[in-house]
Amino acid sequence: HSSEDQAILEAHQWLTKLYHHLLRHSQDGKQALAYLHQRGFTDETIDQFQIGYSPNSRDFVVQFLEKKGFHRQTMVKAGLLTTNDQEHYYDRFRGRAIFPIRNHIGKTVGFVGRAIDGQEPKYLNSSDSSLFQKSKLLYNFDLARSEIRRKNEAILFEGSLDVMAAYQANVKNGIASLGTSLTETHAKMLRRYVDTVLLCYDGDDAGQEATYKALKLLKKTGCTVKVGAMPHEYDPDSYIQSYGENAFVSNVIHHSESDMTFLMRYYKKDFNLQQEGDRIRYVESVIDEIAQLERPIERDHFIRELAEEFSLSLDILKQELNARIQSNQ
Ligand code: UTP
Ligand code: MN
Ligand code: MN
Ligand code: MN
Ligand code: MN
Repeated sequence: HSSEDQAILEAHQWLTKLYHHLLRHSQDGKQALAYLHQRGFTDETIDQFQIGYSPNSRDFVVQFLEKKGFHRQTMVKAGLLTTNDQEHYYDRFRGRAIFPIRNHIGKTVGFVGRAIDGQEPKYLNSSDSSLFQKSKLLYNFDLARSEIRRKNEAILFEGSLDVMAAYQANVKNGIASLGTSLTETHAKMLRRYVDTVLLCYDGDDAGQEATYKALKLLKKTGCTVKVGAMPHEYDPDSYIQSYGENAFVSNVIHHSESDMTFLMRYYKKDFNLQQEGDRIRYVESVIDEIAQLERPIERDHFIRELAEEFSLSLDILKQELNARIQSNQ
């Protein structure tokens, strides 16, 4: 590391401790603490993930970092302070619940700040810096790594809060990309550790789109993909809140669907299956997907399912399938 990177790491380490202390022990932090408790986070989880509170002040962190001898300009690069004119400096995070982002060896390299009183934006992330690159970092990888290896499976969530809620529910192989879609770098990194990735994104449309994209990318990288389906109006965190940890583990994690089952469901959204033209185009997109499955037994399973669902001739569908397999080769 350059000496500047070293300073950035140290500043994050100090601030992680300070924010956490303020949450746990200051009058100022009480509202944030109540907010976190109300969201179901226990004190144990708050300590484990070093969750904190950033005071609602323009220059609390400016003063603190100055006393510690850090250069303001470096702290701007670190994403901890902001300035418009290189003269006046301000705290980036104000009046928020703070979730430290650890890199793969457990050092804090950024923060996610969640509003606790309706402040906009709801989430504020550290900006990218030399040490905090969202396209490369997977949240919680340091804590999850051994469990990911042991299970030969990683669970990919949309948000850091989902990862923490799952961790609290004893699901400890959860990770997340941070407010960005999964990148090829993420996918390749995961592939080095696991055969299987379980996608557990939000149930809303955005979550389903993200699932589709991540699924394609992970398959291309050679992973087996499963999908933990969520009711439309839930995400893993709110699901656990509403239905409990056991329901989450058994309904979502243990009853995940295969990539093909997800795709068949996903494509249906784009077609009006009451109409013949749409129905045919739906069947064709699903056959395209089935043709990409490697195992003959899987291809057989899904082509039968398709034939049955639409009362189509199995022979004809198989012919279509074989034609596509040949043209793929
Ligand atoms: P969501 O938009 O699904 O958050 O973003 P949410 O579930 O509604 O948030 P809550 O439950 O009300 O708190 C998914 C995740 O993406 C990350 C956050 O970690 C969030 O949990 N995120 C989102 C960011 O890091 N930065 C953003 O600007 C937005
Ligand atoms: Mn949202
Ligand atoms: Mn979402
Ligand atoms: Mn969400
Ligand atoms: Mn949520």
